Amino acid sequence: MVALWRCEICGDPYVGDEPPTNCPFCGAHRRYIKEAKKAVVNYDLLLNETDKANVEHALEVEVSNASFYFCAADKTDDAEGKLLFKALGKVEAEHASIWRKILKLPSVPQKKEECKSANQENLEESNRRETRAIGFYIKAAADASDSRIKQVFTALVEVETDHLRLSEERIKKK
Ligand SMILES: [Fe+2]
Ligand SMILES: [Fe+2]
Ligand SMILES: [Zn+2]
Repeated sequence: MVALWRCEICGDPYVGDEPPTNCPFCGAHRRYIKEAKKAVVNYDLLLNETDKANVEHALEVEVSNASFYFCAADKTDDAEGKLLFKALGKVEAEHASIWRKILKLPSVPQKKEECKSANQENLEESNRRETRAIGFYIKAAADASDSRIKQVFTALVEVETDHLRLSEERIKKK
């Protein structure tokens, strides 16, 4: 039976017979996806200085990574690579919008990143970016005082780890 689901990380709704195994918007894993009526989603948080600084940094990371991926989706010289980078760009843009909501900014800041035409170089850059994001989110989750912030950082460690696997598999092929 078709039902309405909601991701507790990005807050977006999804219509389907079953809950998706990964949120189609932010990539959060299955355990964060609930029946819409039962989902607990809150972005109205009072953050201490450490959490606020980490959320501000997270926004910068996601904006930069989304911009890199959209550049790569456009320029990379591999048909499957274009699709991969488009998918990753959309997810990172969704992550940026989570942090934008928590920071109560009217819009996501813009940043223009460079990329290459060689797909392997873009995969290597993706690998470096995801590795940095994972390291940062692990530390931010460990340092978090606010339980909701800790939950979002933890969920995104998993998502960025999924992204890292995608580039790892493709870099090895060469
Ligand atoms: Fe991300
Ligand atoms: Fe990522
Ligand atoms: Zn989501």
